[in-house]
Amino acid sequence: MQPVNPYVLSATAIDKIFPGAKALNRVDFSLRRGEVHALLGENGAGKSTLVKCLTGAYRRDGGHILVDGAEVDPRNTLEAQNLGIGTVYQEVNLLSNLTVAENLFLGRQPKRFGLVNAREMNRRARALLAEYELDIDVTAELAAYSVAVQQVVAIARAVDLSGKVLILDEPTASLDAHEVAMLFRIVRRLKERGLGIVFITHFLEQVYEISDRITVLRNGQLVGTRETADLPRRDLIAMMLGRELVQEVTAQHGPKGEGGDVRFRFRNFGRKGHIQPFDLDVRTGEVVGIAGLLGSGRTETAEILFGAERADSGAAEADGRVLDLSSPRAAIREKFGFCPEDRKIDGIVGDLSVRENIALALQARRGWTRPISRSEQDRLADQYIKALDIRTTDREKPIKLLSGGNQQKAILARWLATNPDFLILDEPTRGIDVGAHAEIIRLIESLCEKGMSLIVISSELEELVAYSSRVIVLRDRAHVAELAGDQVTTAGIVEAIASSTGRADA
Ligand SMILES: Nc1ncnc2c1ncn2[C@@H]1O[C@H](COP(=O)(O)OP(=O)(O)OP(=O)(O)O)[C@@H](O)[C@H]1O
Ligand SMILES: [Mg+2]
Repeated sequence: MQPVNPYVLSATAIDKIFPGAKALNRVDFSLRRGEVHALLGENGAGKSTLVKCLTGAYRRDGGHILVDGAEVDPRNTLEAQNLGIGTVYQEVNLLSNLTVAENLFLGRQPKRFGLVNAREMNRRARALLAEYELDIDVTAELAAYSVAVQQVVAIARAVDLSGKVLILDEPTASLDAHEVAMLFRIVRRLKERGLGIVFITHFLEQVYEISDRITVLRNGQLVGTRETADLPRRDLIAMMLGRELVQEVTAQHGPKGEGGDVRFRFRNFGRKGHIQPFDLDVRTGEVVGIAGLLGSGRTETAEILFGAERADSGAAEADGRVLDLSSPRAAIREKFGFCPEDRKIDGIVGDLSVRENIALALQARRGWTRPISRSEQDRLADQYIKALDIRTTDREKPIKLLSGGNQQKAILARWLATNPDFLILDEPTRGIDVGAHAEIIRLIESLCEKGMSLIVISSELEELVAYSSRVIVLRDRAHVAELAGDQVTTAGIVEAIASSTGRADA
C-alpha cells in the first residue's frame, strides 16, 4: 500500500541534449495537486524544453517522470494527454478556421449513426465553456474571437482531455490586464478542483499574485524550488540571474532628455478603419511612448508610421522634407525601422541563421544587388550577440532553435544594425527576462543619446514612464491624450486610458 502522495507529477534528473547545447542537466521538478507552480528563468534557461520533455513533445535523454507516483514515459503529446497532462502554448495551437465547438471536440466529436452529431457537440461545447464563464457562439469560427478567448478555449480543451496537470507556457504575454484577471480566475478555479498547474512567465508581479511555489532554472540547471511566500523578489531575481541586481530594473534612471529640435512631423496622419488621423512631433534624441489597451490602435499606429498600412490622409516630413512612407520598403529607405511585436508572424525567418536574420534589414535597405560581405555580416552578428547577450552557441545556428526571448533580441539587433533615424519598437521587452529588460532599457536610453528618435509601444507602464519624455495615449483607435513633463506618470497614463474625456487630438 502506498502512502498518500501529494505530487501529481514529479520528474527527476531530466536531461536533454541538443547538438552543441545541453539544454537540461539533471533537472528535478515536482508538482502538487492543487498548486500553481511558477517555472522561471532567463531566456534560454530551459523552461520550454523541460515542459516539452514532460509532455513528450521532446524525447528526453535521461531521467524519470512519475504521474500519481507511477513511472510513465510519454512518447508524444497525445500519450501525455492520456496520462492527464495537458499543455497550452503561447501560440494557441488550435485550428482557427474551425468553429469553437469543433476545436473543443476535435478528434472526439459525438457521433450519431456514424455521423458527427453537430447539435450534441454544440450543446456540450456550450456546457463546457459555461464552466469558464464564457458565453460565446460556439458555432462561430475560432478566429472570430480574441487571443484571450482562444486561450480559454485551448485551456478548456486541455483540461477536459487530460484533467490532472495543466501546463501554461507564457499564456499572458499578449493579454491585457482585464484578460489576465479573467485567466487567473479560471486558474484559481482549476486549482480548487485539484489540478496541478505549471505557469511559465516573465511577469514577476503575476508570479507573486498567483503562484504557490517557484522553481528557477538557469543554463539548463535547477537553481532551486521555494514557497512563493518565503521568497522575496530580490532573492528571486538573484536566483534567476545568478548575481545580485544592483538595482531593480526600472528603479533608477537619469533625467530623460527632451531631445533636440523637432525632426519628424506627422500631420493629420491616418487611415480610415485603421487609425484616426493624428498629429505627432518627434524630436531628435527623444523617446515618445505609446500607451493604450490592446486593440486601442497601438500596433495600427506603428504600422501606419512604417508604411505597413498606407496612410490615406495627411503627410509626414523630416527636417522639412516630405517623406515617402507608402510601403515598408520606402520607409526603410527613409531610415525608418520597425521592430514588431509578434516575432512569429512578422519577425523571424526560422530556417535562416542568427547572422542572416540580423543582417536582413540592412541588406534590404542597401538593395539585394549590393550584398553585404560575409565578413561584415559576421562582425555585425558578433557585435549584437555580445551587446544584447543573445544566448546562442554560435552565429550560424538556425534562429528557430533559439529560445523565444533570444529570438526577440535578434530581431531587435536586426533593426539596430540598420542604424535608423526613426525607430519604432512594439513591446520591445515582451517575453524578455528581467536581466535583459534592464539591458534593453539602457540600450533605448543610449540610442537617444546618439540622436535616434524612438517610438516605443509598451504595456509596461513603469518602463514607459522611465524612458519617455512624452506619452501618447490611445483609445478606440484614436490618439486621445498626450502627456508631457510632470504628467508622465503611471497614474497619469492609467487615468488617461480610463477617462472618456482626454484631450482629443484627432
Ligand atoms: N530544437 C532545438 N534544437 C537545438 N537547440 C534548442 C532547441 N530547442 C531549444 N534549444 C536550446 O535550448 C536552450 C533552452 O531553450 P528553451 O526554449 O527551453 O528556453 P526558455 O527557458 O523557454 O527561454 P524563453 O524565456 O526565451 O522562452 C536554448 O539554448 C535553446 O537555444
Ligand atoms: Mg520558452
